[in-house]
Amino acid sequence: MPSQSSSLSTFFTNKTVLVTGAGSGIGEALALVFAELGSKLALCDIDEAALISLVEKLKATHPKLIVYSCVLDVSNKDDWHSYLAAADNHCGQIDVVINNAGIEGSAQPAWASDDALLHRVMNVNFYGMVYGSKAALPYLCKRPWAALVNVSSVFGMIAPPNTADYCASKFAIRGYTEALRAELELVYPQVQVHLVHPGGINTNITRLEKSQKFKELFLKTEPREIALHIATSIMRNKARIVFGNQANRAHIASRILPLKWLSKLAGREIKGMGMEDDYRTDHDGFTIRKIEKNETRDN
Ligand SMILES: NC(=O)c1ccc[n+]([C@@H]2O[C@H](COP(=O)([O-])OP(=O)(O)OC[C@H]3O[C@@H](n4cnc5c(N)ncnc54)[C@H](O)[C@@H]3O)[C@@H](O)[C@H]2O)c1
Repeated sequence: MPSQSSSLSTFFTNKTVLVTGAGSGIGEALALVFAELGSKLALCDIDEAALISLVEKLKATHPKLIVYSCVLDVSNKDDWHSYLAAADNHCGQIDVVINNAGIEGSAQPAWASDDALLHRVMNVNFYGMVYGSKAALPYLCKRPWAALVNVSSVFGMIAPPNTADYCASKFAIRGYTEALRAELELVYPQVQVHLVHPGGINTNITRLEKSQKFKELFLKTEPREIALHIATSIMRNKARIVFGNQANRAHIASRILPLKWLSKLAGREIKGMGMEDDYRTDHDGFTIRKIEKNETRDN
């Protein structure tokens, strides 16, 4: 733990931190970091075995830890209310809610991707965050200080090929969270709202076979590093949290480059990712056209 650990501990000790998708990756790292900082934890995941294993690990290293854990599918709106009531009852209060749970998209071009999967990605990534934020607000607004933290992505700032479904959900998280932040500023300014744009983090999010090259080339930052950075950024009230492999590069590019150039550069990024065949092979109802040398969108 770095040198700011004692001020971080002072800040987070006895605060209750709720983390969705805590069974793996960034969510698991957040749970471990906040346990080290002396927080009480409310954890959930759709994967019961992963959640049980995490709680066993936490209890082994922090025997006095107050932790409430329960299986929750974040896309199930109704279950949020009973989950929060039980977590609040067990932990005494809820101070920080981190809407972290998320899934990858189809890793296909928009014309080839499956509509049912698009709905699932939006339901988990976007509506899971919406339901979590709305259900948590009454608990957060009761507190003298609180934080709502929504996890978007670098793909909430730039949109390379084969990410249309995932980007739709992550850009939506960004828009929703920025608006909510402005709204709460008017009525509950003590509730901080944070938007996280992770870069490539070394987790299990890429479960598809065709995403493994992307994982190898891009997901390089360890989850603990971003978890510590998120904790520090909440303490410092940093609204936009950009961290992880390639995150700053993507952030700067999204701010300074015209869309025309962003698209061209993003198109080049798929080279070596094993996705080139998607742009050589016809898809159901969509015929690939070969671009002539020197032909661009402008001519
Ligand atoms: N890993 C990266 O490089 C990266 C980059 C940008 C953004 N993110 C975002 O960070 C967040 C965490 O991802 P990760 O990389 O740790 O992935 P991960 O797959 O390692 O962990 C995600 C966890 O969410 C859980 N989950 C999935 N669907 C759920 C649901 N419906 N309800 C509750 N829990 C559910 C999974 O079981 C898993 O434990 C996601 O929102 C992801 O989009 C990750």
